[in-house]
Amino acid sequence: MKKFFIAGNWKMNTTPKSAMELCLLLKNSTKELGAELDILVCPPFTNIQAVAMALEGSRIKYGAQNCYFAEKGAFTGEISLEMLKELGCTYVIIGHSERRKIFNEDNELINKKIISSLSAGINQIFCIGETLEERQNGKTVEVLKEQISVGLKGISPEQAKTIVIAYEPVWAIGTGIAASPEQIQDTHIEIKKYISQLFDDEMKNLILYGGSLDPSNAKSILELRGVDGGLIGGASLKADSFLSIIRIASELQK
Ligand code: PGA
Repeated sequence: MKKFFIAGNWKMNTTPKSAMELCLLLKNSTKELGAELDILVCPPFTNIQAVAMALEGSRIKYGAQNCYFAEKGAFTGEISLEMLKELGCTYVIIGHSERRKIFNEDNELINKKIISSLSAGINQIFCIGETLEERQNGKTVEVLKEQISVGLKGISPEQAKTIVIAYEPVWAIGTGIAASPEQIQDTHIEIKKYISQLFDDEMKNLILYGGSLDPSNAKSILELRGVDGGLIGGASLKADSFLSIIRIASELQK
């Protein structure tokens, strides 16, 4: 039986008040679901405290969308892992394509963030994915291998096993056009194969799919072999749509 991981990436949306309202709706509607399902929300930094309060006593976990790798110091505008930990964050998203593209994060910086979050004891959702041009040029696997090999450099197989991977084709994010089931399945198989090869060990990392995952396509995507859950942007911002996806995952687990 699969154990699904359903994560919401709220990006730069919600305020402390609206985040709290959304969390209360999610909390009340997820009480009865099977304990096997992992649910996570990643609000903006400024709303983490409000989310922590609203989710108290709930099965829903919360995390952050980014972090800086240094422990503390003169890094104006940055947020450390220690700060996130003290707020109760159990996960941090690292390497999201919007951070890579808009904020110029490269594989080396992402690697530093992964290493520092491992030593801080916060779990990672490590995002990888190709652009449309890279896919059209047949470069998908090559790009993903580069993101994985540099992103996970210097990490032991034991540590690497704990990292949740999110495969998010850049062209599918926020476009309303998810990758096809075949594309997702084939790519997840390639990712698993490559990580096992890289660490010379059978790797069983959870691999999530992200990119326009919504209630209309959730079943066909989540039931694919090799898909362990989803990283959901737009559809995680409304309680109704996020809950529909959560319920679909819960049904598939039975
Ligand atoms: P989307 O975003 O579901 O809105 O496509 C996914 C993501 O960026 O993680």
